[in-house]
Amino acid sequence: MSGVPAPAVLYGAQELRAFRASLSIAKRPVVFVPTMGDLHAGHLSLVRHAADLGPVIVSIFVNPTQFGEGEDFDRYPRNLEVDRARLATLGVAAIFAPAADEIYNEEAATWVDVDALRGRLCDAHRPGHFRGVTTVVTKLFNLVQPDVAVFGQKDAQQCLVLYRMVRDLHLPIEMVVAPTVRDDDGLALSSRNRFLSSSDRRRALGLSRALRRGVQALAEGVQSTAEIEQAMAEVLVGEDVDYLDLRSLPRLDHEPVVADHVVLAGAMRISGTRLIDNISLRRVGDRFDPAPLIPAADVNEVADRLRERGTFAVLSDPPG
Ligand code: PAJ
Repeated sequence: MSGVPAPAVLYGAQELRAFRASLSIAKRPVVFVPTMGDLHAGHLSLVRHAADLGPVIVSIFVNPTQFGEGEDFDRYPRNLEVDRARLATLGVAAIFAPAADEIYNEEAATWVDVDALRGRLCDAHRPGHFRGVTTVVTKLFNLVQPDVAVFGQKDAQQCLVLYRMVRDLHLPIEMVVAPTVRDDDGLALSSRNRFLSSSDRRRALGLSRALRRGVQALAEGVQSTAEIEQAMAEVLVGEDVDYLDLRSLPRLDHEPVVADHVVLAGAMRISGTRLIDNISLRRVGDRFDPAPLIPAADVNEVADRLRERGTFAVLSDPPG
């Protein structure tokens, strides 16, 4: 650990552009990990995946437009120096930590809105949230100009919406979706877990347990979506559940008979803290195996595609 310099923090768009230009010289793909900070082992795993491909830029920006009225924007944890120290050991090239007015000028009136997956899962409970996400990620993409961007499966619908956006807008960016990092007891890591008391935390474990119950029902050969959702719901009786669903991929449709590629997804509220989790699977013969959310978004597959393009010296020149 000693001797590794903490990454430079860039606050302004101009500074970032100059830094980005300096990275182009190395002919290696520039890899971007957008975050809202308060970095935990889940975020750091994205950075590790990213570092396998090329120099990494991490953004830390608590994006106001993706928080709804009465949500936790004000209490969202912000501690740049702690985050910077966490990133120091991972060889990150730079942190982009813009002020809000760097991203949204006073007269900003342009939104990026993906007209798909509407009213589904989180969108039904957080109207406007994904518009805030797609708008800020587009702005960050335009500023950072990455070749690859890494997201976490933990936010499955976010990955699906951003994947559509990247394709629909012809953005020259490869998307990696990295697996969800969990605590030993199964709870998916989240910046919001810090708001949970120890009894809240015990209740929170019900969410991953309910999803695993769904996986078990699939393994037992249950073919009815309603039956599987019922089995999951029984684990969270009495809890404040936003949804606990089995949906087909990639459209998040609710189909009566279990489709071949599915996601079990849930969201619940505990003492005012909203938690989400999901598991995606694919039918293989008469079994269901863990499967990626979107095609070929694994770091090795993305490395292969970059190598085929021939523009980069991926993997032959590993991160220093
Ligand atoms: P944030 O919640 O900070 O998450 C940043 C990235 O870390 C996202 O891609 C998220 O899916 C991933 N992540 C969070 N918890 C994880 C876990 N337990 N395991 C693996 N990955 C995990 O998501 C956002 O910020 C914002 O919406 C953002 C994309 C930055 C736009 O503002």
